[in-house]
Amino acid sequence: MITIRLAQETDLDSIQKVVATAFSDEENKAISNFAADLFKETTSPPIKSLVAEIGNQVIGYVCYSPIFLKTTSGTSGYILSPLAVSPEHQNQGIGSTLIKSGIDMLTKDGADILLVYGDPDYYGRFGFKEEIGRLFVPPYPLEYPFGWTGMKLNKNNAPNTPIKFECVAALSKPDLW
Ligand SMILES: CC(C)(COP(=O)(O)OP(=O)(O)OC[C@H]1O[C@@H](n2cnc3c(N)ncnc32)[C@H](O)[C@@H]1OP(=O)(O)O)[C@@H](O)C(=O)NCCC(=O)NCCS
Repeated sequence: MITIRLAQETDLDSIQKVVATAFSDEENKAISNFAADLFKETTSPPIKSLVAEIGNQVIGYVCYSPIFLKTTSGTSGYILSPLAVSPEHQNQGIGSTLIKSGIDMLTKDGADILLVYGDPDYYGRFGFKEEIGRLFVPPYPLEYPFGWTGMKLNKNNAPNTPIKFECVAALSKPDLW
């Protein structure tokens, strides 16, 4: 049976093993360091990570980190990154469960918006849309702008025109975009 729970820093070794096998050789070092950096940082609202476990083995990981808008629009948002599932457990709905659990958690927390930079064919099935992503100007130019999407979680509290934002320090690195 699969369990989803909040991740703790003591999970870092297991998370890094998942990342190492899920991502390509070119990507996995940077993502592994990113996962470690995300645990070191304290923000308000907090960074929240989830792990998926079978028995006591961590087989999936996702992190949600807050964004900080440069204008006071009253909108609170998060970015989903990274997401990884061990290859031997892929295509069994675990990635979907980690995303849906995050959406539920952040909706209950009162967050307004969730953003993601990734394959729209995958994230689109959860309700992420390009038109929402477009309202939030990322801190770095994107190679694949169509992969920048977002969804509303709570009240209709999205800006009317595109606004800039900063992300947590761990994600403020151009190579992660
Ligand atoms: C992306 C990832 C997290 C999906 O996890 P998962 O547990 O296999 O996902 P699910 O079982 O919930 O969904 C599987 C479905 O997504 C599809 N899918 C997986 N990766 C996809 C991608 N990059 N683009 C489009 N579809 C994708 C699968 O083909 C499958 O489709 P189906 O349901 O029609 O058969 C996993 O493949 C992974 O860890 N990949 C390597 C790391 C990575 O790319 N992370 C995302 C960075 S944005």
